[in-house]
Amino acid sequence: MNIPFRILAIESSCDETACAVVEKKPDEELVTVIASTTATSLAKHKITQGIVPEVAAREQLKYILPVIEETLKKAGHPQSIIHNPQSAFDAIAVTVGPGLVGSLLVGIETARALAYAWNLPIIPVNHIQAHPYANFINVTNQPIRQLADQTTNKPNFPLISWVISGGHTELSYMESHDKIIKLGSTIDDAAGECFDKCARVLGFDYPGGPFIDKLANQVTNQPTNRITTIKLPRPLIHDKTMNMSFSGLKTAFARAWKDNLDTFEDKEEELKIILAHELQEAISDVILKRTQQALEQYPEVKSIIVSGGVAANSKIKEKLIASFQISTIRNPISLHFPPLSLCTDNAEMIGAWACFHSQTTTDWQHVEVKIKHN
Ligand code: KG4
Ligand code: ZN
Repeated sequence: MNIPFRILAIESSCDETACAVVEKKPDEELVTVIASTTATSLAKHKITQGIVPEVAAREQLKYILPVIEETLKKAGHPQSIIHNPQSAFDAIAVTVGPGLVGSLLVGIETARALAYAWNLPIIPVNHIQAHPYANFINVTNQPIRQLADQTTNKPNFPLISWVISGGHTELSYMESHDKIIKLGSTIDDAAGECFDKCARVLGFDYPGGPFIDKLANQVTNQPTNRITTIKLPRPLIHDKTMNMSFSGLKTAFARAWKDNLDTFEDKEEELKIILAHELQEAISDVILKRTQQALEQYPEVKSIIVSGGVAANSKIKEKLIASFQISTIRNPISLHFPPLSLCTDNAEMIGAWACFHSQTTTDWQHVEVKIKHN
């Protein structure tokens, strides 16, 4: 029987409070989103120029029930949460880590209470493993998804998966939904963290990645011959392992800003553009190199999927598409980038992971926070 498996998914690991209703029929290879809602406490964190965990947790508490109720309404369940019939769902999926403990607890406790009241099983979800599943969501009409193989909009196994976010930078080989080999990760700062910290040096609010991206794209409009004079390192780029490092890049960026301020005198804006451009080049060069290494090691790969907030970066996207859309190694490789709303934290990806791992249910008594990611 091809009856859809329907999930209520909750994500609260950091500063987003999100809920989604998703479903997947056994013979389908992509997940359908019925409804979703995301609230963010970002504005509060701009004041402090970064996330204060206690503030984030308090905001989670404020948003969690309204966000769930709103999602249920959008999905066509007009009653209040308490009266929602248990038969509407097969399971509740919730992020159990990694993330901020206080924020995670709000989502987990809410999921436990709903599972208890509705007599439903819980699917505990690892946030990092869920990010790539933003690429397993049916977004047929979204032009943002880039495809080399135009005959399909689903990633094909085996594949190379990138999670590039504010907290993690990881490259994995996925033979199937259950067979995953971690190839490399950052040994210090995440790529998103590097973008954020460098943007802060230039005076931009958190999250700084989008500011750097916008600024870097203005470089071609700048008539200057000083552009090649500032070179930032590509840390570990020639390393044989597939690990990465972005902490030194952040330091080099701050030094380059300080050292060149005098040279650029009243042309601070020009220096900002040049540095933003060079930073984006450095990070995207490292991502590109690691992708090439992964493809050399696994020539059978059919798709590359990119996820996490930094997947929204225009240069990373441009370089990966230019290098692999018409693959020199072999054809075809399909490249997948989620639409913007699914790059950053969302509940759809949590629900999507759960749809492909529907056998991993547990009961409400046995769900706990798992802050460590292995
Ligand atoms: O996945 P995400 O929402 O949060 C974590 O789970 O960490 O990613 C947020 C990160 C921030 O560091 C933000 O600066 C970065 O994604 N980001 C970008 C861009 N858009 C968001 N970085 C570079 N270029 C962008 N266009
Ligand atoms: Zn995330």
